[in-house]
Amino acid sequence: MSFSTFKSANKLITGQDALEYLVQAVDQFKIQKALIVSDQGVVKSGTIQHVLNILDIEYSIYDSVKPEPELEQVQDCIDFYHTHQCRAVIGVGGGSALDIAKCVAALAGQTGNIHDYIGTDKIKNRDIPLIVVPTTSGTGSEVTNIAILSDNANQMKQGIVADALLPDVAIVSPIMSVSCPASVTAASGVDALVHAIEAYISIHHSEITDALALQAIELIIEYLPKAYALPSNLLAREKMATASLMAGLAFGNAGVGAVHALAYPLGGKYKMPHGVSNALMLPYVLKWNVLGCAERLSRIAVLLKLEVTQNHMHNAEVLVEFLHRFCEQLNIPAGLRNFGIAEQDIPALAAEAIKVERLLKNNPRRLSVQDIEAIYSEAY
Ligand SMILES: NC(=O)c1ccc[n+]([C@@H]2O[C@H](COP(=O)([O-])OP(=O)(O)OC[C@H]3O[C@@H](n4cnc5c(N)ncnc54)[C@H](O)[C@@H]3O)[C@@H](O)[C@H]2O)c1
Ligand SMILES: [Fe+2]
Repeated sequence: MSFSTFKSANKLITGQDALEYLVQAVDQFKIQKALIVSDQGVVKSGTIQHVLNILDIEYSIYDSVKPEPELEQVQDCIDFYHTHQCRAVIGVGGGSALDIAKCVAALAGQTGNIHDYIGTDKIKNRDIPLIVVPTTSGTGSEVTNIAILSDNANQMKQGIVADALLPDVAIVSPIMSVSCPASVTAASGVDALVHAIEAYISIHHSEITDALALQAIELIIEYLPKAYALPSNLLAREKMATASLMAGLAFGNAGVGAVHALAYPLGGKYKMPHGVSNALMLPYVLKWNVLGCAERLSRIAVLLKLEVTQNHMHNAEVLVEFLHRFCEQLNIPAGLRNFGIAEQDIPALAAEAIKVERLLKNNPRRLSVQDIEAIYSEAY
């Protein structure tokens, strides 16, 4: 049987006035008291106020989500949800806050421990309304059925994948990301770029995910440098908000591959921000992937009007070089050696990365543990 499915948050609201839709969404679900899940960066920058100004219901704010949050934070937030007698969840933040919000909405009504739900399709249903408002243009978490949490015991990032995590409403406004620090704009923007590229070369891509991925790539290459250069550039913020959402739709359905698989142990063991670990691995993994998807990478090079020839292999290599420079211009530090990683740790990193079969199975080139060690060595 051959078919592909396409999943998304139920409603996507985009544009500069998107937040206004909150009133309607709250009304639709008859929400009387909501838990707002957020973090200190979003609260201290004042950005959360854009949401609070519009809400005309009771709410309690859980504002202590940590970047790259740990699995245990879900239970802490579920306890808060019950203590404050909330009846709905509104996530306001980057991927970290949204992933916690998604898990809380899906699990506050269930028994068991968060560890029981690691993996695919372990959560069966969700009764608690879930609205999400992203404040970074990166993860696409607002439209995916995925939450990625840090597992400190195993020094890994773990994926919880279940349709119960798909939000009811995603409200994506450029106003929410204006206060992002430049380093967050850069890292989360490159994460979105990696989502789009990996979805496009995934062996599980479809015509639908291709269209979303290509449009996202074009937008990110044009507007991420502009948002980075001038944080208040609302046009650039809006294009990035849309592009990261599109990249989220693309990878949420086609999957990501080896760039993410090799980035996971860097996040888990060395606490590197997700976007930074992806940026570090991107050129090296893609170079390795050229053999498996030269034509597709070549099409991206043509789309971006790079100096292409009739030779796909050559064009793919031109793209890899271009992406390397693109990340450099955004001042994302390169080289594993600059993150306190010892060269002798590479075999241990590779042993962890090879376990991320959930993602490696989407990659256009099959990788052995020796291949992964070689890629880490090149990225060192
Ligand atoms: N669920 C998914 O589909 C998915 C996909 C990719 C990544 N992720 C996960 O998302 C997390 C990373 O999310 P992220 O890159 O969005 O960063 P983040 O949510 O970790 O935020 C990074 C930092 O930026 C601050 N910040 C965010 N928005 C801000 C704003 N508007 N103003 C001021 N400060 C702001 C935060 O306070 C935080 O300190 C990782 O845990 C990653 O594994 C999830
Ligand atoms: Fe990602």
